[in-house]
Amino acid sequence: MTLTLVTGGTGHLGRDVVDRLVRDGRRVRVFARSPGMRSDVEWAAGDLATGAGLREALQGVDTVINAATCSPIARRGGVRPIDFFRSPSAVDVEGTERLLSLCGEADIRHFLHVSIVGLDQATLPYARVKLAGERLVRASALSWSIVRAMPFYYLLDRLLSGLTWLPVWPVPTTPFDPVDTSDVADHVLTCAFDGQRGVRAEIGGPEALNLVTLARQYQDARRLHRKILAVGLSDAKARGMGFVVSHGVRGRLRWTDWLRRNYLEMQTAA
Ligand SMILES: NC(=O)c1ccc[n+]([C@@H]2O[C@H](COP(=O)([O-])OP(=O)(O)OC[C@H]3O[C@@H](n4cnc5c(N)ncnc54)[C@H](OP(=O)(O)O)[C@@H]3O)[C@@H](O)[C@H]2O)c1
Repeated sequence: MTLTLVTGGTGHLGRDVVDRLVRDGRRVRVFARSPGMRSDVEWAAGDLATGAGLREALQGVDTVINAATCSPIARRGGVRPIDFFRSPSAVDVEGTERLLSLCGEADIRHFLHVSIVGLDQATLPYARVKLAGERLVRASALSWSIVRAMPFYYLLDRLLSGLTWLPVWPVPTTPFDPVDTSDVADHVLTCAFDGQRGVRAEIGGPEALNLVTLARQYQDARRLHRKILAVGLSDAKARGMGFVVSHGVRGRLRWTDWLRRNYLEMQTAA
């Protein structure tokens, strides 16, 4: 049976990818700094930022799904002034470079890299780091695919939850189609095993809504009552901040359904 290595397999998207690989009866190895508990996958301990454990992790691997990242904004669930000046590159650039190089020495048949919609026009340092990593993949001699996704619901949830202490929420009036990791994972699996290569269809959520609407729906689900201050942004500014609408595959899970699952059902159960 062929073996798939998932980097970032302990992250939000990575967990959903691993679930689907296991469900489909595939042999899976998860590359992680701290091996997890599940016993239906192989664990390979290592660190992309240093390269520790990578060569060993690639032994016998056929397909690599690279879903690791170091995003301080996603991790802490909020934007700080520092995020407008720099973002660490050790995982997404140097780590990707290391991984690509070792994949070149191993017998890897497919390297699938997860990326973000709209990177070319985005100006935040994290976006520039992701773009640099993506360029390394495009330039590599491996047989590669790139799947770009819109921001995930969990991230939108974290960012909006960071506003709860504010009586007034400044929210850009821009259309946006965030997506759930479950839908992205389905698409990633299709792209990993359908035999095609290259830049694959990007994926967004089922509907593009104004961010103000997304924020209102969030408040409704959490029974919050905050005034929303609609902030107009030029197209260029919106694109620079990553507020774009994708043009590709549509996920199925709506933001309101995600909110219901994560908030309303929890409130009902409590
Ligand atoms: N979040 C979004 O809205 C979004 C949108 C579009 C595309 N993407 C892309 O989708 C992919 C997954 O994003 P995500 O939000 O699911 O990520 P996440 O939840 O932040 O998880 C990141 C993963 O990377 C691993 N990782 C971090 N540093 C590492 C290191 N030094 N060595 C090895 N592994 C390391 C983490 O492992 P630990 O458990 O050790 O921390 C974790 O498994 C990334 O490529 C991201 O750019 C994300």
